[in-house]
This record gives sequence, C-alpha cells and structure tokens, in this order.
Amino acid sequence: MRRRDFVTAAGAAGLALWTRGLFERAAAASHSAIPFGAAVSDGPLQTDAAYQKALIEHCQLLVGEGGMKWADLRPSPSQYVYDQPDRLIAFAEANGMKMRGHTLAWYAAMPDWALQLKGEAETSRELMTHIETVVGRYKGRIPSWDVVNEALSDDGPRVGLRDSVWAANLGEYYIDLAFHTARAADPAAQLVINDYGLEAATAKSSARRRAMLDLLRRLRDRDVPVQALGFQAHLPGNEEIDKDEVSRFVSDVKDMGLDVLVTELDVIDDQLPADIEERDAIAAKRVGALLGAILDVTRPTAVVTWGITDRYTWVPIWYKRADGQANRPLPLDEDYREKPMMRTIKQAVAGA
Ligand code: G3I
Repeated sequence: MRRRDFVTAAGAAGLALWTRGLFERAAAASHSAIPFGAAVSDGPLQTDAAYQKALIEHCQLLVGEGGMKWADLRPSPSQYVYDQPDRLIAFAEANGMKMRGHTLAWYAAMPDWALQLKGEAETSRELMTHIETVVGRYKGRIPSWDVVNEALSDDGPRVGLRDSVWAANLGEYYIDLAFHTARAADPAAQLVINDYGLEAATAKSSARRRAMLDLLRRLRDRDVPVQALGFQAHLPGNEEIDKDEVSRFVSDVKDMGLDVLVTELDVIDDQLPADIEERDAIAAKRVGALLGAILDVTRPTAVVTWGITDRYTWVPIWYKRADGQANRPLPLDEDYREKPMMRTIKQAVAGA
C-alpha cells in the first residue's frame, strides 16, 4: 500500500486535509483479525477533520456511501464523474486503508437517462460498458465490489426479483451479466451480492433468507462468478436477531463455496426507547447477536458499518424518531465517542 503525503484540493473549506503526519498518532487502526471499516460520506470527508481522524483511527477499509452509484458517476451516458471515488481512494491509500466498491447494479440511485433504457441489447450494452469501465479503472485498487445490490423484492410476502430497469429488460439474467462482466474486468476482485433484511426473527426475514438461498443456488448452477454474500445488516432495533436461523443460513451459504461479509451495519433505532443508555445497549446487543451468529459458523471477510459516527447517517432520512431525538445507529456518537456498539464490534473483529 502506498503511503504518500496527500493534500487535498479541499482548501476551499480552508482545511488542509489528510496530510500524512497530521494524524500520525491516530493512524494505527489496529489490525484486527477481521478487517473493520465504514462507509464514508463525501461532504464531511472534505470538511471535517475530526471525521477523518475517526476513520483513520478505527478503519482498515472504506467504501463510499455514495459516489459510485450510477446517479453519481453517470449524469449522462457519455460522462463518468470520478471525483468522489478518486478523493476517497486517495484518502484510503494515503492512510494504508483498503477499499470496497458500491455498487454496480442497483434499482435505486439511477440517473433519469438510465431509467429510460429499453430492450435487451441496449440495456445489456450499457450495463456491461459501465462495469467494464468502472471496475477496469480501479482494477487492483478496489479488491471487493458490491456487484449486485438488493436483487430481492420487498413489496409483499412473496420474495422474488426486485423491479429495476435491469430486471425489466433482462430478467434475472442481469445478475449473471453483471458478475461475468465484473469478473472479466478484474479477475482478482471479490465479487459480492449484497442485500438486507436477512437477519431478523420475523416471517419476512425468513422468507428473504429462503429467497436468497434459492437465488444463490440458481446462480451457482449457472456458474455465475459470485464469491460472497454481503449482509447489509441495517438492523431494525425493535426486531430480535434469529441467531440459530442466521447461523444455519450462513452455513448453507458457506456450503455453496461462498464467503460472507457484513457490508452496511447499523441499527435503525426509531422504535427503540428514548433513554440513551438503554437504546445503545439494545443496539449493541443486536450487533453482537448478528456478529455472533456469523462467527459461530465462519469468519466474515470484513465487517463494515454504514457510517462511523451518529453525526452523519442516512437513518433519519427514512426513520426519524417520533420524539424528535437524534438517531444513534452507529459505533461512535455525534462527538466521536465510542458507544457500546463499537466495543462489541471490536471484540468480534478481534477474532475472539
Ligand atoms: O448530493 C446531493 C446534494 O447535492 C443535495 O443537496 C442533497 C439534497 O437532498 O442531496 C444529496 O444527495 C443525497 C445523497 O444521499 C448524498 O447525501 C440524496 O438525496 C440521497 O438520496 C442519498 O441517499 C443515499 C441513499 O443510499 C441513496 O443513494 C444515502 O446517503 C445512503 O446512505 C444510502 O445507502 C444505501 C445503500 O447504498 C444501499 N443499502 C441501503 C443504504 C441505506 O439506504
């Protein structure tokens, strides 16, 4: 890993950011048995020195919370805008951290023009060109990709293929195409199918686990080069984790020759008690239950939280609390203090 001094052009914010040495003492993110990392929000990465320091202190790998989605990368068919991912990779490399790429085929965060794609030929050409271009550009620098994100539907008790421009024009075959294209573009990268709602002790989650296993079996039977299943793990705080079922599920996934990892961990706390100690304890318990259920069977290839601090999180976009209190979904609080969740994660990734 290159360790070079890097001063960003974010001087606009008046901040000389991520100069090697600035955070020299924080830079030793402990090298746990299981790599721990976090999703990074581009705005604060450019303006908030405490945010950078926390990432450097705690993370061994990073992923853009945005920036690599179609809507960010592809404002028009002929344009590829690499500003955000390039900024993040420079930060990661300057600080000895690895990267994950998120995401190559998703139903959401699509630019309008791509939602207008019609027919098999045009759709497959655009999907392939996108993946070849983006994965090819970062070949060797992004060792793990969320190739297909949220393939499963979420609109009723029957879990099938989620609607998207990809599914509408190519059917389930879009998944095959995305993985084969990514494999050709970077033969060494870990290729991940990533989804949510796979952990809870609910009928819905159980149906999603079944549907995911069925999908993985079909992909295996068609020799689609999927290497790992990503548990997004946006854990609803008010739902218990089904530890036994999750362990069994992980074991079934492993039996297919696949790895597992945790890609977007946080706890959705809108339904949890207002009391902060109580709320944080429940959140840590959920995280501990999930990581424990996985660790009982295998070592995940990574544990990644969807953000590092409660200061910057997507959760209030959809899950604001009725009592007006701020959400607390992440391992560090708004002032970058470690919460019980962080201690639980550290214990788990230490490989205990
Ligand atoms: O960049 C614009 C900014 O220019 C504008 O001023 C602002 C006004 O709303 O919007 C900004 O874009 C927002 C973007 O996040 C960056 O903050 C979008 O509106 C907002 O929709 C977008 O939300 C992201 C969402 O995915 C959709 O891409 C969330 O931050 C991000 O956490 C969320 O992440 C997803 C994963 O990719 C997949 N799994 C679920 C997870 C949580 O929803």
